[in-house]
Amino acid sequence: MTTMTPLFSISELPDNSAKGIELGERKLFAVNQKGNIYLYENRCPHKGIPLEWMPDTFLDLEKQFIQCATHGALFTIDQGLCIAGPCTGAKLVPISFEVIEGQVCIA
Ligand code: FES
Repeated sequence: MTTMTPLFSISELPDNSAKGIELGERKLFAVNQKGNIYLYENRCPHKGIPLEWMPDTFLDLEKQFIQCATHGALFTIDQGLCIAGPCTGAKLVPISFEVIEGQVCIA
């Protein structure tokens, strides 16, 4: 049986918000858009650096896209696809997860 690691409670991630997660060296982030949760590696495909400019700040002002703080690349929330900026066409790395008893967990 695979051991699942709980990352956070879904109650900590309200609608239209994002959250950074650090697991040792590994950086991830989660977004809640309209009740759907998405989890990605926190690494911009342009320079391979973290996306946020302040803790838990991953979205653009309208909260329509994930935005890289360094050169402003915009990514779709549901697919992590870059639609504007220096890495247009590249994708964020999605992480599969399960929600177990209200906790977002990864294998
Ligand atoms: S590092 Fe993200 S757009 Fe350049």
